[in-house]
Amino acid sequence: MVGAMVTVVTHPLVQHKLSVMRDVRTGVKEFRELAAEVSVLLAYEAMRDLELAPQTLDTPIQSGEFPMLSGKKLALVAILRAGLVMTDAIVGLVPAAKVGHLGMYRDPNTLKPVDYYNKLPADIAERRVFLTDPMLATGGSASAAIQSLKDAGAQSIKLMCILAAPEGIAVIERDHPEVEIVTAAIDPRLDSHGYIVPGLGDAGDRIYGTK
Ligand code: URA
Repeated sequence: MVGAMVTVVTHPLVQHKLSVMRDVRTGVKEFRELAAEVSVLLAYEAMRDLELAPQTLDTPIQSGEFPMLSGKKLALVAILRAGLVMTDAIVGLVPAAKVGHLGMYRDPNTLKPVDYYNKLPADIAERRVFLTDPMLATGGSASAAIQSLKDAGAQSIKLMCILAAPEGIAVIERDHPEVEIVTAAIDPRLDSHGYIVPGLGDAGDRIYGTK
């Protein structure tokens, strides 16, 4: 496959919530809640192709065959720390999913990802993986995280982010062209510090109230 597949979730609820997140006046509590809500709406779209199979069951009125999830089990994997708010929210939708964590931070000088923690479900090769990182900026951390997932055997990976920059999309497209990206918006560019412009600032700081 050539070229990353990118799905932009243009639903008005997602777009409105994202705009409130962008607003510099939005405080920590509201930002965190909105990040969780947008994540669930992104998951709704990212999980659109989950497999269903008919199951026989009884309603209080009559028995019948009804569609239930039947395909591979799921894994949600957060890139720490900002991805946590996304997996914490999405696991409410898919409570049987296992949750993994990849610790990466961006070296402020080189802007390259530094790997400091890796804890993934042992059976990740048998699961569909939804990797969460709110900001796909340079793409360095996300690409390294996808590589860690592949090294652990993962075969089906989607990357979910709240905001993406063309530079980050291009890196995923180059390194992992089979990985679909699901995002709420694609902003025009990065600034010289690797921040998405106009963006929403540092997602981790805004979620956790740090600076
Ligand atoms: N990470 C963030 O939190 N914000 C950006 O704009 C870029 C990377």
